[in-house]
Amino acid sequence: MKMLKRMLEERKSQPRKEQSDFFDYVLEELQSKDTILTEAIALDLMFVLLFASFETTSLAITLAIKFLHEHPKALKELTEEHEAIIRRRENPSYGLTWKEYKSMKFTFQFINETARLANIAPLIFRKALKDINFKGYTIPAGWAVMVCPPAVHLNPAKYEDPLQFNPWRWEGIELNGASRNFMAFGGGMRFCIGADFAKVQMAVFLHCFVTKYKCELIKGGDIVRTPGLQFPNGYHIKISGKYD
Ligand code: HEM
Repeated sequence: MKMLKRMLEERKSQPRKEQSDFFDYVLEELQSKDTILTEAIALDLMFVLLFASFETTSLAITLAIKFLHEHPKALKELTEEHEAIIRRRENPSYGLTWKEYKSMKFTFQFINETARLANIAPLIFRKALKDINFKGYTIPAGWAVMVCPPAVHLNPAKYEDPLQFNPWRWEGIELNGASRNFMAFGGGMRFCIGADFAKVQMAVFLHCFVTKYKCELIKGGDIVRTPGLQFPNGYHIKISGKYD
């Protein structure tokens, strides 16, 4: 927040001739006459957008690499799926197509399992619009409700051996959208608007990663949840060409 505040001050004192990024648009909106934005809201907005769009996907991809490293069977199946996609191509040097993306069955299972265990949004908030009766208790209208997705994702009654990374558990299960048992991307009206984009990004990354590269662990990879997922000593890997 300190950094964003400093950037805001800098841009205010030295306005740029042309808008070049989202921050410039926020600044322009801040300076318009009828705006509902305040500086505090604008900074919160910038912070949350950076978190929602960048931090989430990069954390999920980091955890995905860790799972690939620790589960050779998953790496093998993922590699086979992607090598088969390339083999089926008319010209192997062509890029990925939408049809190929849609055919990635195991990849989607792998992404869902990674998102289930990542619990990147450990909490989401809702507000009771009317009195809600639940198991003999009443949540009065107007109260905030804190939904805790990990409580569902790590519930042994919903997921057998829940701490185990097992992408095969998703076989035959609907992998798009949200359900009461899977809310890694939220649910309902505030369902993550970037969910499909994030999945494309992860799938494209995995496609390139398993077909072109191999990786070696250097150090780190420990996980803490405070409550969000973090790698306190980083996750250092060495990536090299698979066929070099
Ligand atoms: C692995 C990646 C991601 C995960 C796990 C994730 C998770 C979530 C969750 C759980 C919510 C719901 C929050 C709530 O209900 O209060 C959410 C909302 C949101 N996400 Fe994502 N997200 C991811 C990637 C992205 C990306 C790549 C973008 C943008 C490019 C994005 C933009 C947003 C925005 C703007 C919202 C708020 C939607 C609203 O309130 O209507 N997310 N995300």
